[in-house]
Amino acid sequence: MSDAALDVVEFLLTTSVYSDDRTLDENDLPPSFRRVFWTGGVDNEEDEEEEPNRRRHTGISRPLSATNSTAREATGVDRPWDAISELMFTERDEFSGSISLTQQEMAESWFAERVDADRLHENPTLAKHFADHDAIDGDVSHEEARERNRPIQADRVWIDSLLEEYFDTEEDEEMLDLVDVRAPEEVDITLDDLVLTDGQEAEIDKISKAIEHRDYLAEIGLREIGKLLFVGPPGTGKTSTAQALARDMDLPFVEVKLSMITSQYLGETAKNVDKTFEVAKRLSPCILFIDEFDFVAKTRRSDEHAALKRAVNTLLKAVDNISLIDDDVLLIGATNHPDQLDDAAWRRFDEIINFPKPDYGMRADILQVITRTMDIEEFDPQLIAEATEGLTGSDLRMVLREAVLEALTEDRRTLTQDDLLNAVEEFEERDSLKNMDMIEGDHDALVAGGDIEGTASDGGHEHDHDHDHDHDHSHDH
Ligand SMILES: Nc1ncnc2c1ncn2[C@@H]1O[C@H](COP(=O)(O)OP(=O)(O)OP(=O)(O)O)[C@@H](O)[C@H]1O
Ligand SMILES: [Mg+2]
Repeated sequence: MSDAALDVVEFLLTTSVYSDDRTLDENDLPPSFRRVFWTGGVDNEEDEEEEPNRRRHTGISRPLSATNSTAREATGVDRPWDAISELMFTERDEFSGSISLTQQEMAESWFAERVDADRLHENPTLAKHFADHDAIDGDVSHEEARERNRPIQADRVWIDSLLEEYFDTEEDEEMLDLVDVRAPEEVDITLDDLVLTDGQEAEIDKISKAIEHRDYLAEIGLREIGKLLFVGPPGTGKTSTAQALARDMDLPFVEVKLSMITSQYLGETAKNVDKTFEVAKRLSPCILFIDEFDFVAKTRRSDEHAALKRAVNTLLKAVDNISLIDDDVLLIGATNHPDQLDDAAWRRFDEIINFPKPDYGMRADILQVITRTMDIEEFDPQLIAEATEGLTGSDLRMVLREAVLEALTEDRRTLTQDDLLNAVEEFEERDSLKNMDMIEGDHDALVAGGDIEGTASDGGHEHDHDHDHDHDHSHDH
């Protein structure tokens, strides 16, 4: 019997067990299954007539019925019915297209003979159902399966339906320009991909523990926790670390783009700031990431429009009022210009985490990480690390990208150490072009030959080798 049959029978059993056992909830369904049954978003007209003022119900409603197409979507099996049609306990209703189990018990024994504990732990619904079954290889626990299963809060569909429910007018949609919400499943980077300093690792450890034990912290009245400020020059991994945290902890990632505040109709901004925080609370537990936090201080100081100042004050108040312990929102601010933060902004964070430019050892490690899947002859990361003093993680990525593209122009997929060294040299050249004074600078260099192509497409990082940005603000506050 093929794996496809096992997949489809698992799906059918899951729908039927879930439909009968009312103690099971969304988090008992594997993400690929619950996605199929998720109803969210648009109001259905009939409901509207009956209960015009009620918020629509989003979620998964029983009974779950399996059809050829839901089974295909959930299992990835191309022809679900064909995969199981020969089994004695299956049936297909030609009219409705539904497929089902005619003899549940027989299906259960068939299934139990073919799965093991490992596979059942991927499916909490069946883990519970089969926990005491004799035929299963190994120990199965419902609890462990639930723990392993990604929570529904991490699913894109869940996030979308909440957003849709909450921002239903056009004006509201505008405010979605201000925030960017990402499901953990959509974040590519993990903490394993990042080379962190010991200090950063210790802080991340601390905060993960705090999140895990937030009930306890609430109990003992420890509330001033869960607001982090990431400080460091561009390209040192601040955004990536925040995202990786979201992914590794299965938390939605809500990013506020402060600079967007100014581009909005100013009368609305204060309200939109409040809404942004409301979104975060709604999506909680989640991470609320506020980039360019120095913007706040700058605005307060300067002679800005009163409405903008109001918006920024609203933001600071909102920061005060949100809490990891009470709202399940972890707030992370980031800035390249810690020197521009005033005390008011500064003291709102209970941990400051320094993101320095990587030292020699870290550069070598970063090079190892980013070349993990590449083929490089005579690769000597230490040597490259020596040649890249002052470069950030983001710069090193760019160097590698350059080397790969160069090699591709010669139709090579295997790089050499020399390719990398050349790319470093090229990077340094480009970098000095960037710092060139475009008005007073050397006229010849500005008009002729110089290859400045592509300098604008590096993700917006500035490479300011003249100034040392590594202010050490990591002392405890
Ligand atoms: N320590 C590091 N280890 C591995 N990769 C890194 C590291 N630092 C930066 N990178 C890589 O560099 C790129 C840019 O990093 P990121 O966007 O997180 O920097 P940032 O500090 O947020 O910069 P900015 O201040 O400009 O927003 C990412 O692809 C990231 O993976
Ligand atoms: Mg960033």
